[in-house]
Amino acid sequence: MNRNVLITGGAGFIGSNFVKLYTDKYPEHKVINLDLLTYAGNLENLKSINSNHHQLVKGDISNRELVENIFSEHKIDSIFHFAAESHVDNSISGPEVFVKTNVLGTFTLLDVAKSHWLEAPNTLKSQYKNSRFLHVSTDEVYGELEKNGYFTEETPYAPNSPYSATKAGSDLLVRAYNKTYGLNTVTMNCSNNYGPNQHSEKLIPTVIRTCLSEKPIPVYGKGENIRDWLYVTDYCHAIDLAFDKGRSGESYNVGSDNEQTNINLVRKICQILDGIHPRKNGKHEDLIRFVTDRPGHDFRYAIDAKKIKNELGWKAEYSFESSLKQTVQWYVNQSLS
Ligand SMILES: NC(=O)c1ccc[n+]([C@@H]2O[C@H](COP(=O)([O-])OP(=O)(O)OC[C@H]3O[C@@H](n4cnc5c(N)ncnc54)[C@H](O)[C@@H]3O)[C@@H](O)[C@H]2O)c1
Repeated sequence: MNRNVLITGGAGFIGSNFVKLYTDKYPEHKVINLDLLTYAGNLENLKSINSNHHQLVKGDISNRELVENIFSEHKIDSIFHFAAESHVDNSISGPEVFVKTNVLGTFTLLDVAKSHWLEAPNTLKSQYKNSRFLHVSTDEVYGELEKNGYFTEETPYAPNSPYSATKAGSDLLVRAYNKTYGLNTVTMNCSNNYGPNQHSEKLIPTVIRTCLSEKPIPVYGKGENIRDWLYVTDYCHAIDLAFDKGRSGESYNVGSDNEQTNINLVRKICQILDGIHPRKNGKHEDLIRFVTDRPGHDFRYAIDAKKIKNELGWKAEYSFESSLKQTVQWYVNQSLS
């Protein structure tokens, strides 16, 4: 069956990697990519898309009239919802746009999908019997972990930043549209991604950018916070699989048992750069500077991904060492080109 797909936020980091994977894998599906092209969206990220069936629409997911027009014109039957304000630091200095995009925007998409796909609660219109709404969320909704333990899909929500609170709000709206109206939904809660196309504000691009310009590398606190890093292509495969085979109303945690302290990750990147782009004098590590910690900085995130592994047969394919090296090389090439 050929699908009419709406991908939101497809000019951002994960969204653009997903659009590439999806349009290559399903060249016959029509893909409408709705992206506001905020500071985080980048048309360069879409340069490698060579599908006649991909169309970018610049606009806001919380603009109901626009979303309704897209649904009517293109008979949208599938949504992959990536669009979000995604940077925790920005949510601390300016939370309002996070509420607007992450909560109100998700609500708008859900509500328009409901009115297009459903005749009545739990009754799909016959032409939309295969419709599905896949919501891309984060592991940050679960709050933080101490040294031990993992987030499972049963972990109670306890978001700590305005960013994670708005993502939690969006997840709960998705849940409610599934439970109340029977909308066919799947939610993904994933750990930190790395790979090409990430905005320069995020940790890995920041380390590379500051190293290449011989500036201090800012590391929060003592760099002891722990994140579980997943290569973006592995995540895109998980999303594709969960859309295809996931159970309606379920959420799936995604991670690759790859916990790194921030300082360890920064040092690894410095060592890779020492090999591929050495400094004139000294090592890149010498540029590390510890800066005042982020308020409410979650100590540790770690994912138990048993559910998606056992139920859907997903597993991470990319090794951290070689994918991190390729990622660093990618950013170096970008900055030198
Ligand atoms: N990056 C990660 O490590 C990570 C981890 C877990 C979950 N997530 C989630 O994955 C999704 C994608 O993250 P990302 O890192 O690619 O984000 P990103 O910030 O790189 O991209 C977000 C995209 O959304 C667009 N956008 C923002 N507001 C919009 C609006 N109102 N209407 C339409 N488009 C809008 C931006 O222009 C941009 O292209 C987000 O929902 C995020 O919460 C990210």
